[in-house]
Amino acid sequence: MAVRTITDIDFGDLYRQHVRAASRVDKAASDWDARAADMQRRWLQSSYAEAFIARMNLAGATTLLDVGCGPGTIGLPLAHRLERVYGLDYSRAMLEALRAGATERGLTNVEALHRAWEDDWSEVPVCDVVVASRSTNVPDLTAALAKLDAKARRRIYLTHRVGGRLFHPEAIEALGRQLLPPPDYIYILNILHGMGIHPRLDYIESKQQRAPAADFDEFARRIAWSLGELTPEEHARLRAWYERAPPGTGEIAAPMRWAFISWEKA
Ligand SMILES: C[S@@+](CC[C@H](N)C(=O)[O-])C[C@H]1O[C@@H](n2cnc3c(N)ncnc32)[C@H](O)[C@@H]1O
Repeated sequence: MAVRTITDIDFGDLYRQHVRAASRVDKAASDWDARAADMQRRWLQSSYAEAFIARMNLAGATTLLDVGCGPGTIGLPLAHRLERVYGLDYSRAMLEALRAGATERGLTNVEALHRAWEDDWSEVPVCDVVVASRSTNVPDLTAALAKLDAKARRRIYLTHRVGGRLFHPEAIEALGRQLLPPPDYIYILNILHGMGIHPRLDYIESKQQRAPAADFDEFARRIAWSLGELTPEEHARLRAWYERAPPGTGEIAAPMRWAFISWEKA
């Protein structure tokens, strides 16, 4: 009998199946536009950004590409150490926040690239260092990782969530949805292995979790952001659960863990 081994598994395909089964909503750029101001306030100069940057090696690097850059969480604080920083994002409001942050800091070497992961990247410059911080929730992870690798001359750094749950399982149960937690970083390690890449792995613990939702409406909005619009019945069931549950139990408590994955070009 033929022996099945791990090499028989197509982890890119398994990931795509997992994303579909977890029925995560595909976010539009406009969804992210609405979060730009909040992200700028919370994440620039955060302990998360400091921990990410502390793990990077910029030796010999003059250029950096920050993919899914948001307000410039990683690229902006590094710009004074580099000749050129490119922030790539499909949200115009995030890129506006990046530009505003650069102006505020007197930086003239930061360039915004309005692109999606899925777009043609042939015009995106190859850079010494490529970063994707918390921005690899994409439908096709294999294609995304290949793009990061192709655009890097020296090193790649990314973070992806450890574990999938954002909300208390009972809250999801109360909705009445049968949902798998979303896929986590382990797919990235396996897909990279299949590409012949053997990355380093570290973890960042982010204690800076947002405060629990102030009231039920905010809690329901947060659930809808992650899981898609709630039907009136789901809304009512969730409210019934929320009103019974001890305050603050809806969301998974800090620390939030991120896998920090990096590799060097041969
Ligand atoms: C969680 S935020 C991370 C922002 C920043 N890198 C950080 O760590 O604070 C995810 C970012 O990815 C961007 N993004 C999401 N899907 C994208 C896509 N398909 N193409 C390009 N950017 C995308 C969003 O607009 C958002 O700015």
